[in-house]
Amino acid sequence: MKITVIGAGYVGLVQCVCLADFGFDVTCIEKDSDKLRELKFGRIPFYEPGLEDLFKKNLENNRLNFTNEYSDNISRSDVIFICVGTPPKKNGQSNLNFVDQATKEISKKIKGYTVVVSKSTVPVGTSRRIEKILKKRKSSRMFDVVSNPEFLREGSALEDFTRPDKIVIGCRTFKAEKILKKIYKPLNRPYVITNNETAEIIKYANNSFLATKITFINEIADLCENIGAKVETVAKALGLDGRIGPKFLHPGPGYGGSCFPKDVKSLIYQGNKNSSDLTIIKAVDRANESRIKSLFQRIKKIIKNKFNNIQIGLLGISFKPNTDDVRESPGLKLAKDLSRTKAKIKIYDPKGMENAKKELPKSIEFCNDEYEVAENSNLLVIVTEWNQFKNLDLLKIRKLMKIPVILDLRNIYSKEIIKDGFKYYSIGNN
Ligand code: UDX
Repeated sequence: MKITVIGAGYVGLVQCVCLADFGFDVTCIEKDSDKLRELKFGRIPFYEPGLEDLFKKNLENNRLNFTNEYSDNISRSDVIFICVGTPPKKNGQSNLNFVDQATKEISKKIKGYTVVVSKSTVPVGTSRRIEKILKKRKSSRMFDVVSNPEFLREGSALEDFTRPDKIVIGCRTFKAEKILKKIYKPLNRPYVITNNETAEIIKYANNSFLATKITFINEIADLCENIGAKVETVAKALGLDGRIGPKFLHPGPGYGGSCFPKDVKSLIYQGNKNSSDLTIIKAVDRANESRIKSLFQRIKKIIKNKFNNIQIGLLGISFKPNTDDVRESPGLKLAKDLSRTKAKIKIYDPKGMENAKKELPKSIEFCNDEYEVAENSNLLVIVTEWNQFKNLDLLKIRKLMKIPVILDLRNIYSKEIIKDGFKYYSIGNN
């Protein structure tokens, strides 16, 4: 079976590499010439554990090819995955220009029966939109459009690809269903087979539910702080209730990344468009947006409202560990807010600094490690739960800091570290 993947972004590249590793002959179309050059040299344009090795292996085996042209490879393909970006507009609506462009190119080139799979996160109705564009040039017997949303987490994409909780296939014919099942056969995981529209909404409902769970525990954490309770114990007890489950109940600085914030806003937009007032999701979005502002106020209180002659160190800037992605990162937002004060800001992150530098003012100092950040700081804020921050040499940190105060936004440590001479603040435990 010949497969084409359009777009070598996060989703597209993981899809190409993993399908090539299953033994399929995969061609990836990437329009960005810089990115394409890097890929042809065997380099991937972002950090994802394990991906580069698997990518090189399949490149060497000639199962993976890259091009910037919609050419004969489209005519020869049995299945085409559309994995282009769908960036959000200001009002929450997804911009579908790249999906439309890709579909138009596909419609010019397909020859025999082809399955066109929408893999990008797209609003309900996008399969119909793709079908409409294809029908302008080709008879509907020549193609099927499938909605096959992905649930990959950055930092564990390979594991999520190979052991997904479910494979969602939204389609209108048994023929297309059979072809998709053939592709995913090596995974041997449960399927949810449904129509395209249901598959499209599953992705938004899934992400928005997880965002709701996080926001819920963050609010409970705030209450715990005010009443002297321990949120970690509350989360543990909730998690033991089989109806709730323990995952996504870690309080923190709010959810970030390229998916949750965008998908929550898009679902609200889709609700408004379809006369459904999604009050819960709207509240989740508002609560998450205001979280950084309240964390900033907390920092202000800790340093007694004096930013003058103060140095604040941030450990972590990526939106979560094991990624260099800083999109919608709570740490990035916090760093921006802090950079507007008179405080000196220092940052260290194992992978996210290059991306963060493009977004943050020059006044911020980027350091080589945790200890450089700690040196002369009046406050150390743990923003991202990278493993290497879990085992800091606290004695060294204490000696290096001007005043040993830690604000732990991921609850990595506990009040025990007061014994090491620190003033310690965490989320939902005071
Ligand atoms: C998410 C979904 O999990 C994935 O299925 C989807 O395809 C893409 O979006 P990702 O954005 O990579 O994946 O990260 P995820 O691990 O889900 O975390 C998202 C955000 O929630 C991060 O900012 C993380 O720090 C935060 N989070 C997560 C919490 O604050 N608490 C938690 O308990 C879990």
